Amino acid sequence: MTENLDLFSAPAPENKAQAAIDLEAKAAALRAQLNQWAHQYYVLDEPTVPDAEYDRVFRELQALEAAHPHLLTPDSPTQRVIGAVMEGLAPVRHVVPMLSIHTETDTEATGAQAFDARVRRELGLTDADPAIEYVAEPKFDGLAMSLRYERGRLVQAATRGDGEVGEDVTHNIRTIRQIPLTLPEGVPPVLEVRGEVYMRRADFDALNERQREQGGKTFVNPRNAAAGAVRQLDSNITAQRPLSFFAYGLGAITPADQGGPVFRTHYEMLQTLKSWGFPVAAQVQIARGATELVAFHQQVGASRDALPYDIDGVVYKVNSLQLQRDLGFKTREPRWAVAHKYPAQEMATRIEGIDIQVGRTGKLTPVARLAPVFVGGVTVTNATLHNLFEIRKKGVRVGDQVIVRRAGDVIPEVVGVMASGPRPAYVKNFRMPRQCPICGSEVVREKGEANHRCTGGLFCAAQRKEAILHFAARRAMDIEGLGDKLVDQLVDANVIRTLPDLYRLGLSALVMLERMGDRSALNLLAALEKSKQTTLPRFLFALGIRHVGESTAKDLAKHFGTLDALMGVDAESAATEEQLLQVPDVGPIVARSVHTFFQQPHNREVVEQLRACGVTWPEGAPTERGPQVLAGKTIVLTGTLPTLSRDAAKEMLEAAGAKVSGSVSKKTSYVVAGEDAGSKLAKAEELGVPVLDEAGMLALLAGEGGAA
Ligand code: IVH
Repeated sequence: MTENLDLFSAPAPENKAQAAIDLEAKAAALRAQLNQWAHQYYVLDEPTVPDAEYDRVFRELQALEAAHPHLLTPDSPTQRVIGAVMEGLAPVRHVVPMLSIHTETDTEATGAQAFDARVRRELGLTDADPAIEYVAEPKFDGLAMSLRYERGRLVQAATRGDGEVGEDVTHNIRTIRQIPLTLPEGVPPVLEVRGEVYMRRADFDALNERQREQGGKTFVNPRNAAAGAVRQLDSNITAQRPLSFFAYGLGAITPADQGGPVFRTHYEMLQTLKSWGFPVAAQVQIARGATELVAFHQQVGASRDALPYDIDGVVYKVNSLQLQRDLGFKTREPRWAVAHKYPAQEMATRIEGIDIQVGRTGKLTPVARLAPVFVGGVTVTNATLHNLFEIRKKGVRVGDQVIVRRAGDVIPEVVGVMASGPRPAYVKNFRMPRQCPICGSEVVREKGEANHRCTGGLFCAAQRKEAILHFAARRAMDIEGLGDKLVDQLVDANVIRTLPDLYRLGLSALVMLERMGDRSALNLLAALEKSKQTTLPRFLFALGIRHVGESTAKDLAKHFGTLDALMGVDAESAATEEQLLQVPDVGPIVARSVHTFFQQPHNREVVEQLRACGVTWPEGAPTERGPQVLAGKTIVLTGTLPTLSRDAAKEMLEAAGAKVSGSVSKKTSYVVAGEDAGSKLAKAEELGVPVLDEAGMLALLAGEGGAA
C-alpha cells in the first residue's frame, strides 16, 4: 500500500521544507491506515489484512517516529492499545489495566536471546550472575478476557478493549463450558483471572463447514470466529460457536493484608489457578536462561501444526513476581514479558490464475494459483477457493491481492481479498466451465447445491483416479503401496480403466512404469492379492457410492447381511428405496443414492467383475462374528486408549453388535475414554452417561458389564 520511504539520506537544502511536509504526510498516512485496519479488526471483527501486514506497517511507523521524534503524536497507534467498545455492549473499566506485550518479531533463536539480555541488563546483572528463571507459555491466538469472581462466583467477563475500558460480555462467556461459573471454597473474595478465549481448529472447521452448507458467512480464522462469537448481543449465537479458554494471569485480587493469597512466582500462581478449575495449557513450563527459552521456542514450534489450536508464538515471563515488580512497565508493555513469534500462518499474495480440480465424486473445486508465498512454514503456490459461491461471496478475481491461510496440516485456503486494485479490462468474473476440463463431459449443479460436478463418472480420468485411490484406501480395500503417484501413472498410461483392472495387473505391465522396480512391483501384487480377502462393509465403502461413508456401509451390511440381498440378481430385484429406508440411520438422500448406484449396469458389471477376480468376504449370519453382547448399545470413543488403537476398539465393539457414534447424547450407553479425552468426556459427565476406561470396555465385551 505504501512505498518505502528513504529515512536515512539527508535531503538537499532546497528540498528540506518539502521533505518535512512529506514526512509528516507519510506519518499521518501510516497512522490513518493502521487506525482503519485496527477498527476493522477490533471493532467490526472483520480484518482486511493479515497480521503480518499490520505488523510491517506498524514497524514502519515506529521506525519513522524513532528517526523523527517530532512526528510522534500522543494518539499514534504506536502509543496505545487499540480497540474500542462495540455499540450495544456495556463498557467495563478495568481495575488493573490489561496491557499488551512487547513482540520480538525475530522468529529465530536470537529473539529469545535479545529478551534475556535486555532483562539481565535492566536488572544490572553480569555474566557472573546465574541464569534467570522464566515461565514459557504458548501465545494463544484468540482474544484476551478478564473474568471477575466475587466470593467464588463469576460476576463479570470483559474484553480488553483499549486496555483501560473493555466490553461486558458476561452473558456470552457464561456459555463457555471450560470457564467455571463457581469456584471451590477458600478462593480469595475478589479474583480476576486473565486469559485467552479461543476456538479449536476442529471446532472452527466444523463451524465453517456448517456455515458453508447453509450459505452463511464463513470466518477467516479461528481467532476471528472466536472474537465474533464473544462480541454478540445474543448469547444464543455464542452458545452455538464452541469456544475454549486458557488462563495465563491475574488482574485484581484481594490483597494479602486483607487475607488474599501470597504468590511468590508466576508459575505458582498458574498452578493455583489450575487447582481452582481453570484450564492452563499443558505446554507451560519453567525455562532457565536464554538457552532454555530457545529450546522451548523450537520445541513448541515443531509441534505447532499438531496442536489442536492456533498459536502465533510463545510468551516468556520472568517467573519471580519480585523481579517482575523490579522490572516494571514501559508505557504500554511490561518489561518482564515478551512475545516471541513464529512465521505467520496468514500472508498476502497475488492470485495469478484459477484452475479447476476434479474430485472423486466429480466435484469441481476452483483452486487459486498464487505468486509463491511463505506461509505457515512452507511455500504455498495453490490454495483452495472451495466453490463458485465462496468466490462470489469473497469477491475474488485473478490479479487480486488476497490473504492466504495455512494452519496445521489443513489445505491452504484463500480467506479474503485484501485489495482489489484496478483490474485490467480483460479480467472477467470467474465462471465455472460448462465442460469438465479433464474429460469434456457436461458440468452440472444440482438445485440447492453449492458445488458443480462433472457428469463423466468413471469415464472421467480425474474421477477414475480418485475412485481408485478411495478403493485402495486403508479403511476400504487397504491396498498397501497404491498411492497417488502410481495411480496417476496407471490411469494416464491407460493400464487401468476400471476398478477390476487393478486385479488384472501383471508384473510385466508394472515394471514398465517409471520408478517401479521388480521388488516394488512384486510387493504391490502381493498387496493386491491380500486385499481380496475383505469384509462386506469395507467392500461397500470401497465402491465409492455417493453419501455412503464407512458407517453407512456398516449399517447396510448389517441390515442386508449379504451383497445379493442388497443388489439383487439384477437391477429389478435390487433393494428398493423403501427397503433401504428401513436401514437404521439411512435417510432419503442415501437411499436414493444407493438405489441409483445399483440400477446402473456399469456399476453392477464392476461389482461382478471384482467378485470374478476373487474379491471375497465372509457373508451372512452376524452370529459368525461372536455373541452380540452389545446389541442395541451406542458407544462413543474419545481420547487415546493405552493399548488399543481407535480403529481396533471400534471394530471390537461393532463385532459385538454395538453402534459406535461420534457424539455424546442422552442416548449414549457408554463413553470409553482414554488419555487427553476432551469435551466428549465432559459432556458424558454432564449427562450422567457411564464412562469406562479401556479395561472397563474389555470387561464389557467379555460380558461382565453391568446394566446400562
Ligand atoms: S500475558 C502483561 N500470556 O497476547 C501481559 N498474553 O499483547 C499480559 N496472549 O491479546 C498478557 N497468549 O491475550 C499473555 N500466554 C499468554 C498469552 C497472551 C496470548 C495475548 C493476550 C493479548 C496479547 C498480548
